[in-house]
Amino acid sequence: MKTNTKLYETAAALLASGKGVLAADESDGTAGKRLAMVHLPNEPENRQDFRELLFTAPDIEKYVSGVIMYDSSIRNSTDEGIPFPDVLTAKGIMPGIKVDLGVRDLQDYKGEVITQGLDNLTERFKDYYDMGARFAKWRSVVSIDENETPTDAALKMNAIMLTRYAQLAQEAGIVPIVEPEIIHAGDHSLQQAEMVTTRTLQILFQTLIEYKVDLAGLILKSSMVLAGDSHPQQTSPAEVAQATLRTFHMSVPHECAGIVFLSGGQAPDRATENLNAIGKLGGQPWPITFSFSRAIEEPFLNAWDGKPENGSKAQEVLLETCKKNSMAALGKLN
Ligand code: 13P
Repeated sequence: MKTNTKLYETAAALLASGKGVLAADESDGTAGKRLAMVHLPNEPENRQDFRELLFTAPDIEKYVSGVIMYDSSIRNSTDEGIPFPDVLTAKGIMPGIKVDLGVRDLQDYKGEVITQGLDNLTERFKDYYDMGARFAKWRSVVSIDENETPTDAALKMNAIMLTRYAQLAQEAGIVPIVEPEIIHAGDHSLQQAEMVTTRTLQILFQTLIEYKVDLAGLILKSSMVLAGDSHPQQTSPAEVAQATLRTFHMSVPHECAGIVFLSGGQAPDRATENLNAIGKLGGQPWPITFSFSRAIEEPFLNAWDGKPENGSKAQEVLLETCKKNSMAALGKLN
């Protein structure tokens, strides 16, 4: 029996009650989309300002246990020259790193993609560990299209990639977050979302177990289970909570260290309300919390508007958003 004590300690710290993870791991290209919202060009100094404001926001450590960064941001520093991972570590926030290199089309499987990034991953993990990273993320992408996608073939290949990444992460002393994102955009029903999410997670966990990944040192990052954003019947928070937890109980072994949610393009308040409904059901076998990107960053970006004079105000909004999501994770929002 393996005893990966350090991994368990890291996972426990990330999943501490009332805290969650900020996913600030946009690639440089996607960071440009965030900056476009505040009318700033996608230049390195604007990306640095964006991240510096997020990471130095006073008191966020009360609600944020970890921050996921991207390769260019984990190597970046504040204006005063303090490396971003050190800024976070000094606040008691665990630095994390996205290590996948994005998706490519899966040949002959229309509309399906495979995540890449396994090359040199052992060496990359060593570098990231030396920079302070103690957890990592790898995202695969699953789209729902009537009865066509996803295919088991694509789910299985992505599960193998996620599993290999998870093995290498654990070997490097880094807690893997495995993230099979079920894309929210589309006109699929709640039932389809539930079926696909369950199948995806079952294949993933079967593969992780087959290759002896230590589930007690691994975190699942999941989509909430809800109808596609263009389906005529949108899912209420109570329905999201029931469908999501039903899915987890059908597919996530109890040994798994915990589950965090992506927001997946839901409006920030909606993501928080859904999380609150899940929190309200309480008493699950795994700690469950947030690992939002857009649902946390959007209110902050709106307050900042790319203007230096709005920096402090935007940091207050960030704190407020993190606090709300922390309460929601506990089901204590209202
Ligand atoms: P969103 O919360 O914006 O979905 O992002 C989370 C994430 O990490 C996506 O990979």
